[in-house]
Amino acid sequence: MNKGKNSFVDLGSRGRLNKNNKLNDLTGKEWLKFTKSWFIHRPPRRKEDEILHPAKFPESLVEEFIKFFTKKNGWVLDPFMGTGSTLISAAGINRKSVGIELSKNYFRSSSKRISKRGFEKSAFPFNGDSLHLKELLSKNGYEKIHFDYTITSPPYWNQLMRNSLRQKNRKEKGLDTKYSINKNDIGNINSYEEFLEKQAQVFDQVYDVTKSNGYLTIITNNVYFEGRLYPLAFDTAISLTKRGEKSWVLKDEKIWLQDDKKLIALGVNNAWVGNRHHQYCLIFRKEK
Ligand SMILES: C[S@@+](CC[C@H](N)C(=O)[O-])C[C@H]1O[C@@H](n2cnc3c(N)ncnc32)[C@H](O)[C@@H]1O
Repeated sequence: MNKGKNSFVDLGSRGRLNKNNKLNDLTGKEWLKFTKSWFIHRPPRRKEDEILHPAKFPESLVEEFIKFFTKKNGWVLDPFMGTGSTLISAAGINRKSVGIELSKNYFRSSSKRISKRGFEKSAFPFNGDSLHLKELLSKNGYEKIHFDYTITSPPYWNQLMRNSLRQKNRKEKGLDTKYSINKNDIGNINSYEEFLEKQAQVFDQVYDVTKSNGYLTIITNNVYFEGRLYPLAFDTAISLTKRGEKSWVLKDEKIWLQDDKKLIALGVNNAWVGNRHHQYCLIFRKEK
């Protein structure tokens, strides 16, 4: 490693690291690469213990975001933890993390996956309702943490209740087709407006526990239901910017293109039904 001029450190093929970088530990070259507004991500095949959850995101994808929005030893939060992908990614690159998951099953599975990798000293999963996030954090002694970054994927409204082809295939294999039957599972809310409000209430609390200038990434999507598109991703983006004192600033979107999904003949010779092979990663910042 050669010390460059002024405040730069030459990291060889990684590029040059500016020692005054306030946000992350990336070189200029790596920083620039991540700023592209879309990406294609082909995760490695899911392992047995990961198939049980119906909507898990790949660790390799989360890792890229955590590397951009935090420095080493930073604190990461995931209020819809699922099987713990965020916590595992964070621990793997020396960040500390807290996750909250309502389903006991997925909470157990995340705890197992964390201890299997020896990450218990830096990844802290909790079983509980994120609508009581602040209460949960302080009950467990985390009230003084100001999180650097939150990355999460909430339920896509009640999408898992629909009888999609994917749901049918999972059912035939005896796998979960919904997260839970718990009434506090926001994926079980039928009213679209109520879902948006409850989701926003969780992010109001995330706002309170985030440090000033800290970032939030929400991975979500628009949802096609009964012949029309519900712009869930767009409404999520808008709703979080209209929360009075707790308004997030919407900074950008990054689009995750899934070009490895099969095309299904939907509505052919009749009417438009798209093959929706992308998701939105919405980027917000707490600018207070
Ligand atoms: C899209 S999944 C997250 C998957 C996760 N990113 C992973 O890779 O495993 C959404 C999760 O939110 C959980 N959930 C729903 N309502 C919740 C609530 N009120 N509090 C905490 N978790 C909740 C569901 O049980 C589900 O596991």
